[in-house]
Amino acid sequence: QAYNERESLYIVLNYAKDFFVKNLQTEEGRAIGLSYFKERGFNQAIIDKFDLGYTLDGWDHLLTAAKAAGHSEDILLKAGLVLQKEGDPSRIYDRFRGRVTFTIHNLGGKPIGFGARILTQDKKQPKYINSPETEVYHKSDVLYGMFQAKKSIREKDNCYLVEGYTDVISMHLAGIENVVASSGTSLTENQIKVIKRFTDNVTVLFDGDAAGIKASLRGIDMLLEGGLNVKAVVFPNGDDPDSYSRKVGSQVFAGYLSDSAQDFIAFKISLFAEEAATDPVKRAELIRSVILSLSKIPDSIIRSVYIRQSSKLLEIDEEIIHVELNKILLKVQ
Ligand code: GTP
Ligand code: MN
Ligand code: MN
Ligand code: MN
Ligand code: MN
Repeated sequence: QAYNERESLYIVLNYAKDFFVKNLQTEEGRAIGLSYFKERGFNQAIIDKFDLGYTLDGWDHLLTAAKAAGHSEDILLKAGLVLQKEGDPSRIYDRFRGRVTFTIHNLGGKPIGFGARILTQDKKQPKYINSPETEVYHKSDVLYGMFQAKKSIREKDNCYLVEGYTDVISMHLAGIENVVASSGTSLTENQIKVIKRFTDNVTVLFDGDAAGIKASLRGIDMLLEGGLNVKAVVFPNGDDPDSYSRKVGSQVFAGYLSDSAQDFIAFKISLFAEEAATDPVKRAELIRSVILSLSKIPDSIIRSVYIRQSSKLLEIDEEIIHVELNKILLKVQ
């Protein structure tokens, strides 16, 4: 065998990427996939940049073409591109059917997996399906868009962190390239390590819905724990970066990001401000939540800067923060 298994996986995944990209130019692909992307404001340049594609409706378009091109069923299975039929594992079929595809690249730009979005409102089907874990795709190590973002992250010395594939793409269209997505799952230590290779500064731009705000609170504490400086932006009533940038346009969007980025303390305070202003119990909860975040910061100098700031913003004695922090830090040890 000329290639080992990893190499075969990269080759078949690249074949699938090309196949999905070419499908976009078929009659069905144009009518369904391309028109969907166009409706979302994605132009040909961005489609090329992100290797966006389409999977034809049917059970074996990729399977048949890939086999004819010399790829084995075994390697298609191991790449997560096909599935075994339940009850009859000798029969296999395409995993992605009748969906637009988002190619997931590794840091070097090789395709390692796909996200695939449904085009109808069919509530019985999941909106997105994704490649499974494979030998070359470890979800917990990967941030969508990092290949396209890494140069800009270094240059800007900041990384925007969003939830979804389309948020990454819309931000590129708005001229902002230092952006990666966690793809709906909660952030992992390995993903944070990847970001740290390029910058120490992260701005969290999660969806402006309850789930997004909850995820950003969790993400912020993880990022702090990873020793990163964290800011956050909240979008109005349910918008995400994609929907908001299309609503207001690139220029207003870019302005919004720079004007409304808050450090994590101000972010927490703004989230709870209304309730905390009148309700002493809520106010105590807010203070505790800020102190808990402070306890995650590994660098004691940075921590002390934030303690001072928290003391001012929360109008609470610095000494009290120290006392509460020490309680937490002692418990952790
Ligand atoms: P659009 O509706 O196309 O704008 O996508 P979105 O990115 O705004 O979707 P949403 O905010 O609902 O979810 C954020 C991210 O979570 C998506 O980009 C996906 O990576 C992931 N996600 C969303 N829905 C599903 C799902 O049904 N299954 C899986 N596995 N992941 C999902
Ligand atoms: Mn790996
Ligand atoms: Mn959401
Ligand atoms: Mn979203
Ligand atoms: Mn969206």
